[in-house]
This record gives sequence, structure tokens and C-alpha cells, in this order.
Amino acid sequence: MSGGNRKTQRIDKILVHLGYGSRSEIKRMVKQGSIMVNDTILKDSGLHVDPFNDTVEVDGKRIVYKEFIYIMLHKPQGVISATEDKREATVLDLLDSEHALFEPFPVGRLDKDTEGLLLLTNDGKFAHNLLSPRKHVPKTYEAKVDGDVGAEDVAKFALGVTLDDGYTTLPGELIVLSQEQVEDVLISSISLTIHEGKFHQVKRMFEAVGKKVVYLKRVQMGQLPLDPKLDIGKYRELTMDELSLLGKD
Ligand code: URA
Repeated sequence: MSGGNRKTQRIDKILVHLGYGSRSEIKRMVKQGSIMVNDTILKDSGLHVDPFNDTVEVDGKRIVYKEFIYIMLHKPQGVISATEDKREATVLDLLDSEHALFEPFPVGRLDKDTEGLLLLTNDGKFAHNLLSPRKHVPKTYEAKVDGDVGAEDVAKFALGVTLDDGYTTLPGELIVLSQEQVEDVLISSISLTIHEGKFHQVKRMFEAVGKKVVYLKRVQMGQLPLDPKLDIGKYRELTMDELSLLGKD
């Protein structure tokens, strides 16, 4: 406990951040003697504590402090990958208040009509490492494509294709999973792994070979697959093992 060096924070701020209530609710809890710091009843809700080293108890239960949150979301179609928007529902609207409190943001973007794996965090360094163009973190998508995706497309994607703005992509690994005839159109189900994240990249890669993506889902980022048990629209915090798969030490 101290007056305010860099490691310390106001206790009320810490408890609000962890979801124990609003600033005024914390003040009331202090008045009621419900909060102990290092075995002493707290009198001042503005006291600075070191959340990693001081012992803080609320109603006799020790708080577990964390600064960062790491979430895996199975993004549904129809919500945008932003933190706020005047008209559209955002991925943050899918979070409970106890997780939204950490003010996470999406790690990169999925289009409104794309579903699948989206990470959310408030750890800027972690997000930057995953998104940095120099790192070439692979991302795997599954898609349904209107048309006959074949060996010629696989070969073109393996070399990199030139998008509508003249940019030639890095090689992508395209696998044709199956094909089905739906009325008079042939739909190809594919998997595509890319190593960069240009705007609408998967859709534009298929446009470059004259085909249209009609359904898109991200299934993996780096070494981390989307949890198949996570229903569309649901989320959970990443485990330590999953974080280390993503290179977090
Ligand atoms: N590529 C796209 O075209 N859309 C996405 O949402 C992600 C990758």
C-alpha cells in the first residue's frame, strides 16, 4: 500500500474493474466494513494498493486480480467487429457486463456476414503481435463458393493471386473439401489458409479467379482452432494452454 507509485491503483477502481460494483457501491461496501486490505478493514475507498501483492478481501473472500482478458468468440453473422456503432449490433453486445468491464476489443476484423473465430482482448501488445503483417500469422477459413473450385484455382492460390487493387497476395493453401449441386448451381466447400489479412481478403481472392464466396467462417488463427463446442454467438475466456499456442508467454 502506498501513495501512488506506478504499480498501485485506487482500490475502488480495481474492484469496479473486476465487476464488484459501481464506484458508489464500493464506497457503500467500505462503509459497511466489507472490504479488508492486508487483514485490516478498509476505511478509505480511494486507498492505493498493489493488486498483485496486497491482499484484498471482499466479504471474506480474497479477490483474484487480473489486468487482461482474452476471449474466444464464435462470431455469428449480423454483428460487426467493432467496439461501438450507432446503428449496428457489435461483437461487444454479445458479452456479459462482467467481461465487457475489461473493455476488450476485437483482434482484427471479420465481415458482418462472416462467422467463426474472433478473439477479443484488452491486451494491446498481444493483439499487435497477432496482427502484425511481419508475423504472417496463418488464418484458416472454411467457405462455400459459387462455382467449380478446382485444381487450377488451387495452383493459382499457391502462387498468390492479384486482387482488384493490384496487390498480389502471399501464397494461400486452398483445399477443395466437397462439391454439391444445389438446383442449377455447383457449390464448392473449401478450406483456405492465408498468411495476411487484407480487407475482405478471402472474398477478393475468389473474385480474382471469377468466383463468389456465399458463406465464410474462420476456423483457426495461428495454432488455435475454434472450439467446436462453442455454439454460434457464445464465447469463453482462453485457457493458459490456448494462450501459449498463440505465443503468449
Ligand atoms: N476475408 C474476408 O473476405 N472476410 C472476412 O471476414 C475475413 C477474411
